[in-house]
Amino acid sequence: MNIKGVNMKVIGIFLLGACAFAADLSGNWLVAAPRNDGTFARTYFDIKPDGTTNKGEIHTPSAHYIITEVTGGSDGFTLSATYTDNRSVRPMKYEGKIVGDELHITATGGRGTPREMVAHRVPEGEGLYPKKNPIPALHKVPYNGLAKTPPMGWNSWNKFGHSVDDAAVRGVADAIATNGMKDAGYVYINIDDTWEGDRDAKGNITSNKKFPDMKALADYVHSKGLKIGIYSSPGPATCAGYEGSYNHELQDAKTYASWGIDYLKYDWCSALNLYTNEEMQAVYQIMGDALRQAGRPIVFSLCQYGRNEVWKWGPEVGGNLWRTTGDISDRWMSMANIGFRQNDLAPYAAPGHWNDPDMLEIGNGHMTDDEYRTHMSLWSMLAAPLLAGNDVRDMSQATKDILLNKEAIAIDQDPLGKQGTRLSQNGDQEIWVRELAGGAKAVALFNRGDKAAEMTVKWSDVGASAKPKVRDLWAHQDVNVEGGSYTATVPVHGVVLLRVK
Ligand code: GLA
Repeated sequence: MNIKGVNMKVIGIFLLGACAFAADLSGNWLVAAPRNDGTFARTYFDIKPDGTTNKGEIHTPSAHYIITEVTGGSDGFTLSATYTDNRSVRPMKYEGKIVGDELHITATGGRGTPREMVAHRVPEGEGLYPKKNPIPALHKVPYNGLAKTPPMGWNSWNKFGHSVDDAAVRGVADAIATNGMKDAGYVYINIDDTWEGDRDAKGNITSNKKFPDMKALADYVHSKGLKIGIYSSPGPATCAGYEGSYNHELQDAKTYASWGIDYLKYDWCSALNLYTNEEMQAVYQIMGDALRQAGRPIVFSLCQYGRNEVWKWGPEVGGNLWRTTGDISDRWMSMANIGFRQNDLAPYAAPGHWNDPDMLEIGNGHMTDDEYRTHMSLWSMLAAPLLAGNDVRDMSQATKDILLNKEAIAIDQDPLGKQGTRLSQNGDQEIWVRELAGGAKAVALFNRGDKAAEMTVKWSDVGASAKPKVRDLWAHQDVNVEGGSYTATVPVHGVVLLRVK
């Protein structure tokens, strides 16, 4: 039949096709990919019936995608989706077909190579991203009295990533207790992301199979005269997609306290799907209050990559340290770009409250020993936390000598707590100075260039007397100085670190 030239049979077939498509594909589907720690990485595909303007959403624990286009049918469909946060827009494509009761999907785009997944139908509404809670009014969380000098210890992330487990943490604690690191001040053994299990029926956070008994592990670490740290997020999920503390802040703080935890790194991650940068302070304050209420002294480490000028409000939420940058990697450019960019933040560091340019990469293998000496020296000049990020169970002598340089550590841990600043810059050569307790100065001659360089520091420029007492903290010897200045040859990407009095 033809009405005004339109073929109704064609429209009929088209509508039928659309209904079949909607009935088949629309609904809520779950991909539960098992991890080797007994937890599941869950992705929900909430697909709306074809033809509506809202074509649905895709939720992973840490991200939230809007479906922008659905094409094809049950025997071959394509979903296009985008993920947007404050930093980036990531297009994703999911291609697949229906096989029996399942959706077979190949995901491309975003991070990594194409991924195969199988989804099953689940009830409408399951896995929905939680609603944003109202944010509390701001107040000052009192200082917890901890971290009078920058925290020192070890963190699992840089070397172990997802593979950290109970045995590794015990081994690291054993090593640190006996290889000189504990005596040098490295006391916090911090477990980063991927320890988390699901919540129990009462909503208590549990640890996953890699960590069979957190309380026992904490007792073990304490028995070595060390302290133990843990990791979570103010969002529903951590950066690696594990359970976060959203809506469970006080409950989690109490759990950590009952396990004997001494340090919490609290990582923004999925909170960015709920809150703006301007709301961060209030969100971090919730955990600051919770830790205080939990009643155990716990160092509070804020990790939100330096957003929203955290150095201005970190102490207000009870923070002892705050990350000032994105993630470090074991490369000269990454370390140097982060470290040499901290100059303007010096006024915000003080006992109890530190700028955190991220954990150490010393000993992880992708920098030269001179570059690692620069890393250690620069972090010490910056009064930065010294959290080793390597496998301390198995270290070369050079790595040990760098991490265990007590004279550099003494600069980092100087009780005055004043962060060093750049005195001068001449192309690739930078001289930094740090004021120390008792009137001494730390002076670092850094050569960022790719040729060895002769560098000179004048004592009058660093505010020292004409013939000061000078010690070279890498050569571990006193230096004879004449003539109001000192000249040294500084290796490629290297440093000469001096204590001047
Ligand atoms: C973020 C942090 C890292 C690490 C990972 C864990 O990227 O900045 O330091 O904690 O999350 O997932």
